[in-house]
Amino acid sequence: MIKLMLVGSTHTLDVIKVLLNESAIDASISKEETQPDVTIYEIDSVQTLFKTPKSFTTPAFLFITNNNKELLDNVKSYAVNGLLFPPLTTVGIMSKITNLSLMKPSKIKKEEYEVTRIKIIAKSESIPPLPALAQELIKLTRDDSTSITQLTDSIKMDQGISTAIVKLVNSPFYGIKQDISSIDRATALLGFNSIKNIAIASSMNSYYLKNFSMYKTTGNEMWKHSYNVACIAQIIGRQLELDHDSLYLAGLLHDIGKVVLVDFLQKPVNYIEDEQNQIGFDHAEIGSTILEKWALASEVTDAVKTHHDFNANTFGKILYFANKIDNNKESADEIIREMQLVFGITDSNIVSKKILAAINDDNEVFR
Ligand SMILES: [Fe+2]
Ligand SMILES: [Fe+2]
Repeated sequence: MIKLMLVGSTHTLDVIKVLLNESAIDASISKEETQPDVTIYEIDSVQTLFKTPKSFTTPAFLFITNNNKELLDNVKSYAVNGLLFPPLTTVGIMSKITNLSLMKPSKIKKEEYEVTRIKIIAKSESIPPLPALAQELIKLTRDDSTSITQLTDSIKMDQGISTAIVKLVNSPFYGIKQDISSIDRATALLGFNSIKNIAIASSMNSYYLKNFSMYKTTGNEMWKHSYNVACIAQIIGRQLELDHDSLYLAGLLHDIGKVVLVDFLQKPVNYIEDEQNQIGFDHAEIGSTILEKWALASEVTDAVKTHHDFNANTFGKILYFANKIDNNKESADEIIREMQLVFGITDSNIVSKKILAAINDDNEVFR
């Protein structure tokens, strides 16, 4: 049983009680709990916010019911695990709680985990490294001296990737009204940097040509999800003037650990905790092990390792939100708002429009 405590109104308490009753997870809430697993602070005014502690010993969330600017500006100095906004929903609350690893640990012995771990690491050695073209393109991120013609030429040599690029640049996300049929034309219109990133995404298709039913999804959906997360991470990175190329790459690779882990799962997985309970660790950890072997930049590897952790460093936290936005399209607006508050993004309309365009883009290349 997960014990929640609310610091707030009786009305909110009643609302959350009803929502918890509708959920499949065993959880309770009250206003007084000696050892709560999670505390929710209802914030209805700046005064209430200022009375709330800024750091917490157990997981804590702020439920913000007032759009006052001063209040919103101050929220980011609170070291909470996440924010909630009205209307509260069962899915909204549950997705927060289940991200906290509060589930009961399984009964599998440590030694059994160790054996599986060794097997999984051995398996991760056998996953083919990034395709040569992708590696060449990633290197270009750090080296401006490579000639563009030279690189478009090597992209053109790969028929599959060229076709995928042409299909992608014609998607609404890129907003080009005319029909683009060649790599040269696409490069002229979108710029080499975009084409390079699209080519890297296209070359990763090969990792997703397997059965992902244990994750209740398909390879094509996994690939599309990775691409969406990459695009969202890049949008946020650009806005914050961070290295958006690395964020894009981290987004593309954030769930690469699932490619290996899926072969070891005995039961379907809903949450990352299910992986931990079944085999002792999760796809974020194994993903970062794979990327370390590929000798990718440590900021990419670290971001992948922490992409399910709200308290990660900036890159990891960007992936955390990008992943969450794409996985919860119905509540994307709310998660984008939370992300903007956390990062102090004020230009919010443009950013959220771009992100919504990225997740709602249904490109045939991923079908
Ligand atoms: Fe993930
Ligand atoms: Fe993901």
